[in-house]
Amino acid sequence: NTFVISFYRIIFSVGKAQDFPAGFKFGVATAAYQVEGAWNISGRASSIWDEFVHSRPQATADHSTGDVACDSFHLWRRDIDMVAELGVDFYRFSISWTRLYPNGFTNYLNEDGKRYYEDLIDTLLNRGIEPLVTLYHWDLPQKFQDLGGWTNPLVVEWFAEYARAVFTLFADRVHTWITINEPIALCDMVYHVGSHAPGILSPGVGNYICMKNVMLAHAKAWRIFDEEFRSKHYGRIAICNMHLAYEPASDEETEAAELARQLFVGVYTHPIYSAAGGWPPKIEKIISDRSLKDGYNYSRLPAFTTAEKDLIRGTYDFYAMNYYTGRLVRKAKIADKYGIWPLEASTDLEVIVYPDPKWKMSDSYWLYVYPEGIRHQLNWIGKNYGNQAIIITENGYSDSKMDLNDKERVQYHRGHLKQVLLSIYEDDVNVTGYTAWSLMDNFEWNSGYTQRFGLYAVDFTSPLRTRTPRASALYYGAVVRQRLLDPVYDNPYQTSRASNIVIHTSVNLFITLINLMYC
Ligand SMILES: *[C@@H]1O[C@H](CO)[C@@H](O)[C@H](O)[C@H]1NC(C)=O
Ligand SMILES: *[C@@H]1O[C@H](CO)[C@@H](O)[C@H](O)[C@H]1NC(C)=O
Ligand SMILES: *[C@@H]1O[C@H](CO)[C@@H](O)[C@H](O)[C@H]1NC(C)=O
Repeated sequence: NTFVISFYRIIFSVGKAQDFPAGFKFGVATAAYQVEGAWNISGRASSIWDEFVHSRPQATADHSTGDVACDSFHLWRRDIDMVAELGVDFYRFSISWTRLYPNGFTNYLNEDGKRYYEDLIDTLLNRGIEPLVTLYHWDLPQKFQDLGGWTNPLVVEWFAEYARAVFTLFADRVHTWITINEPIALCDMVYHVGSHAPGILSPGVGNYICMKNVMLAHAKAWRIFDEEFRSKHYGRIAICNMHLAYEPASDEETEAAELARQLFVGVYTHPIYSAAGGWPPKIEKIISDRSLKDGYNYSRLPAFTTAEKDLIRGTYDFYAMNYYTGRLVRKAKIADKYGIWPLEASTDLEVIVYPDPKWKMSDSYWLYVYPEGIRHQLNWIGKNYGNQAIIITENGYSDSKMDLNDKERVQYHRGHLKQVLLSIYEDDVNVTGYTAWSLMDNFEWNSGYTQRFGLYAVDFTSPLRTRTPRASALYYGAVVRQRLLDPVYDNPYQTSRASNIVIHTSVNLFITLINLMYC
């Protein structure tokens, strides 16, 4: 087999150009609370997720916590080995605020935390892997939650101070930064849905207050980087947005779909990327009108002052998009009962969002497979906000099995990468990178360990948290190395593998020979 593959590779590399453009980068991602564990050692203090899962065991499907998770605090060398095995250009991980600054404030730096991230970053660099660092992936210091968390306007300063401190430590070595991961998850999923830590229900009020503070916090961090660090240490920094593809349920529903897109995506992009700045005008008007109609004296969506709009507008160096799934959208009928995002949507909009029954469901209740949606979203960004570089910072597939032969996950990544290529070549959208979520199975928030997104399987029953590559890791590693959508790779988990390789190889050899004859 090895011989056949090597032979094939030589022929193939002569016969066909690479699918992925020169300069296109591949990566793989994790987040601190989902993998690190070591929640109460080496000076780390509690974040809102520690407090949430400890005080409400029913918040996770299997009543689990991230106390140990993948134990990456101890096993990070193995993590880097895996990243290197995949051959990717970058590793996206996040910093645990309370591991570095247990007080939340930066008056006290935890040396063990500093050493941990320093080792991680330096070792990645030594192995030729670029660190892509997220400052905030949902784990606010509990001490700040006790003071109101993301609904207290002071959070803007708390976050800005933390960002400056992290840049001071690592901006000499880290050159791509994400300020905040998926604001929808820390505003809507907390205050509207109530499922994410700290699980405070305040729909239509708390989520909107949070949104304004998140936008300002991001903007302050970006400006600090821009003014104090960029000239010394080159680098780029952006917020990271969760996109679902919101598709009209019928031709009459394009307006409803665009409104849903504006409420769930546009509120986090318009203030930053649009020429005018501020909230998407239609959304601002709808929420204001409804608030006044309901007897409020002002909009539940807090307005920006002109100075705030100016502070936020233009605070980007690229566009970071996470994409997993899509929804159909239609106007609500009188008898409709409103549910919660992401299955049914906002009462403020009077729209209903729901998955297309034609889309294949994963084992996660929210994740339906809709690869075309990623292309639609990339086009939407390109059309609305110009052709700055777009990095897909997350894309992945969940199941509930330990299976190593994860055919569905391979198909998922292949299907989405294919749409990314169409977006680049057919639509001229400037997509410059792709990140698979996730490097390995990990603590999947409310799903605990019941949902697995890993290219590597993790055995959570073993104290060693053994990691084993799945077929998807082998597929993705081959994509990265051969820069092809359909690379040759050996899947040892496939039962009839020898015959498959021969058939696959023969077919491709034939195509290659035809190609050669014409070049
Ligand atoms: C840390 O938490 C674990 C539970 O995850 C507990 O068993 C252990 O006693 C705690 N250690 C300290 C030092 O508090
Ligand atoms: C409502 O707002 C108006 C104008 O903004 C103001 O004049 C009025 O006093 C407010 N009413 C209350 C009850 O706060
Ligand atoms: C895509 O973005 C990169 C990085 O910002 C830039 O260098 C490049 O010129 C852009 N490409 C196009 C076609 O605009």
